[in-house]
Amino acid sequence: MTETAPSAGEEIELPEPRTESSQSVESAIAARRSRREFQPGPVELADVSQLLWAAQGETDAEGHRAAPSAGATYPLEVFCSVGADGVPGLDAGVYQYRPASHSLVPVAVEPVQAELRAASYDQEVVEAAPVALLIAGIEERTAQEYGARAGELYVPMEAGHVGENIHLQVESLGLATVSVGGFEDTAVAEVMEFEDERPLAIYPIGQRVD
Ligand SMILES: Cc1cc2nc3c(=O)[nH]c(=O)nc-3n(C[C@H](O)[C@H](O)[C@H](O)COP(=O)(O)O)c2cc1C
Repeated sequence: MTETAPSAGEEIELPEPRTESSQSVESAIAARRSRREFQPGPVELADVSQLLWAAQGETDAEGHRAAPSAGATYPLEVFCSVGADGVPGLDAGVYQYRPASHSLVPVAVEPVQAELRAASYDQEVVEAAPVALLIAGIEERTAQEYGARAGELYVPMEAGHVGENIHLQVESLGLATVSVGGFEDTAVAEVMEFEDERPLAIYPIGQRVD
């Protein structure tokens, strides 16, 4: 671990996200593309913070989040996989996002992106990214309200909402990403040591090649 490394389980406060930029939502939609190659270089912690906020950040005092949720049941969890030297100030490893405190909690100190690549039919983009966001769902939270429709429709719908927020925020930050759904569920769950969470999508993120 480097000197900047947090000790295991220590909460890492993230930089304050912004709610203004010079890019309109229309121009971000118009310019959005799936981008599977990255220029070398890390992703700044401020950008990771902004992306996590766009994914699941709290946007009002009642705890509503950036993306809609069926009955405000909030089944989604966002994990952040950091590669070696992927994000200045963060050690390689896996972190879990805490929306209420806009912070990260380390959950694994080893980088997992090579294993995630293997679990994703060897898609190179998954390992090449300096950082990846992984969206997972705990269906039970929503199934308590909506039964089977939660797993069949609502939780995957929510992951889609989050994915588009990530895509548009990536666009606005001038970065690159692609929505990766091609993976073996059980293999990803094993890599991430999930018990209740179902992996729903991976967003490898890096510097854009123009
Ligand atoms: C549910 C879903 C799963 C996807 N899975 C993958 C994937 O595993 N690997 C990949 O390279 N692209 C994946 N994509 C990205 C699509 O290939 C891409 O969105 C499509 O080619 C259209 O291109 P565009 O996003 O640039 O408009 C996925 C997209 C969606 C919506």
